[in-house]
Amino acid sequence: MADNSNTIAGWVLAAGIVALGGSILFGKVFHSEVPHEGKQGYAIQGVESGEGGGAAAVPLATLLAAADVAKGEATFAKCKQCHTIDAGGANGIGPNLHAVMGKKHGHLPGFAYSEALLKAPGMWDWENMDKWLASPKKYAAGTKMSFAGLSNPEERAALLLYLNAQGSNLPLPPPPAEGAAPAEGDAKAPDAAAPADAAKAAPADPAAKK
Ligand code: HEC
Repeated sequence: MADNSNTIAGWVLAAGIVALGGSILFGKVFHSEVPHEGKQGYAIQGVESGEGGGAAAVPLATLLAAADVAKGEATFAKCKQCHTIDAGGANGIGPNLHAVMGKKHGHLPGFAYSEALLKAPGMWDWENMDKWLASPKKYAAGTKMSFAGLSNPEERAALLLYLNAQGSNLPLPPPPAEGAAPAEGDAKAPDAAAPADAAKAAPADPAAKK
């Protein structure tokens, strides 16, 4: 009897150790996978709040109204290693960009775009193109466009004008109502910005379906 129960206790103990070891191993496997997915999720959310939440920044419409298309053309030199922009230009590492403004993501049927870009919400309106050029990776995590982005909002605005002038000719977004908010304090600024955003998005949408 006594010998028997010792043996049983031994097996139970051994089984426990195996189970513990197993759970540690599984734990490691799961731990190494979860953070990867978690990080991507957070990176995407980070873009929305980081770019969109900049209520204090100069509105894009205002930057565009003051932008110089010739400076945009100069900035496009940074894109030329991968892109052409003339009508019917060849694709390079990146797609030809003629008339891309106002189009859907992945506007050229023949180019092998990443799933990341094709699945990004929206289309190439002013706001989205501005975010994309600020940081392609944040705009579409997993994009094939390995370009760090342009951090200067004025440089981006000039480049947007230039892109738009190459076969797109979208109307400029209306400037925010003059004298609306800046002097009134922080609380009113977001209110003033919201209608302008809506107005900007509206005229661009029909073009996307063509
Ligand atoms: C190192 C090469 C490279 C550089 C430099 C580069 N791009 Fe790209 N670009 C790409 C690739 C590759 C894609 C396709 C991305 C994908 O499918 O995820 C792309 C996609 C795009 C698209 C989307 C086109 C569409 O049909 O939807 C735009 C717009 C764009 N690039 C603009 C620019 C601009 C403007 C610059 C310069 C500021 C630039 N790119 C610099 C490689 C590049």
